[in-house]
Amino acid sequence: MVYLDNNATTPLDPLVIEKMNWFLKEHFANPSSLYPIGRQVKELITEAREQLASAIGAHRSEIIFTGSGTEADNFAIIGVLDAIPERRQFITSAIEHPAVIETARYLERKGYLVHYLPVDQFGLIDLDYLKSVLTENTALVSVMLANNEIGTIQSLEEVVKTAHSHGVLVHTDAVQAFGKMEVNVDKLGVDLLTVSSHKIYGPKGIGALYLRKGTPIVPFIHGGHQEYGLRAGTENTIGIIGFGEAVRIMKDRWKKDKERLEKLADKLKTGLEKKIPSLKFNGHPEKRIKTTVNFAFPGLEAEAILLALATKEIYVSTGSACSEESEEASHVLLAIGLKPEIARSAIRMSLGRFNTEEDVDIVLSEMPGIVQRLREISPLDPEA
Ligand SMILES: Cc1ncc(COP(=O)(O)O)c(C=O)c1O
Repeated sequence: MVYLDNNATTPLDPLVIEKMNWFLKEHFANPSSLYPIGRQVKELITEAREQLASAIGAHRSEIIFTGSGTEADNFAIIGVLDAIPERRQFITSAIEHPAVIETARYLERKGYLVHYLPVDQFGLIDLDYLKSVLTENTALVSVMLANNEIGTIQSLEEVVKTAHSHGVLVHTDAVQAFGKMEVNVDKLGVDLLTVSSHKIYGPKGIGALYLRKGTPIVPFIHGGHQEYGLRAGTENTIGIIGFGEAVRIMKDRWKKDKERLEKLADKLKTGLEKKIPSLKFNGHPEKRIKTTVNFAFPGLEAEAILLALATKEIYVSTGSACSEESEEASHVLLAIGLKPEIARSAIRMSLGRFNTEEDVDIVLSEMPGIVQRLREISPLDPEA
């Protein structure tokens, strides 16, 4: 199998499996229990929290574990807006993950004014537009660090500078950036930041929110005192331990992984461009997570390509996994100006730690034939 959908999720690292197995066998106690076996679990959670905090330049008291990246995004946005009820505006970008976009739509239904920042053809947000819509009524700006579909990396420092000069807080969804580039909360200057374990070779169903000390927020899950009283519910102990181990491994090797995988991704990109001349590349030429390679195949339906590749055990995506089942074209690709029929022809390939040169060679040898065969039977016009 050639798995090229690492932006959707990553396989567990074998060391993470080992640590989780050990934990499951040795520990079952509730971390809130005061006797020694409970305290031991609490200490292991604290270790995981410290791993994550130090990976992003934070203090452990600023890390709240959540049930997913999606939950952390929801918590950041709804939690801050609830804490500043007198401010009724929210600003985000047009290319956010559904975890943010759908939260924004919910806020609109609640009567908030929401601005969706437009992006250029490469997926970079319009900073002048941001300046024009910021007011003293704005509660929060949420702009993702790296896009999940095309990999574009935003100039987040600029967003933060602009928002802070208006006294407005900034959240970033760093789910796709974490583990693939430097993510440091002080360098970025953000007030809140979301990460998720299953994008960095950890288990699914566990995420975290970085919450800068002093940032106003109201919890939306009520109950016990877990997570500093901000996210009630007995902790997903096994998830947290696995996440912590995934972060530990990532800190050791992300730079080396990045160098190797960017070379592989470049070989994939240039190889496909050479062999399939009508491709249209989506994303920024430079400001991009280079392991994300998104191409439109004008005249074809992405789903047909995906399924044909799957028969060869090559797994890619038609965009965000969360919107895979919907017939609609990707909102990200529409936002960068693609026509709906071109957007519906786009395939995302995303490389990860366990990909090899052989994987890329297999794709380069299989894909041109598949595309050729589909072109022969496609009723769509590639020039349209
Ligand atoms: C940019 C981005 N934000 C948020 C999420 C949601 O994270 P989770 O799957 O942990 O809910 C994803 C997952 O695809 C993502 O790519």
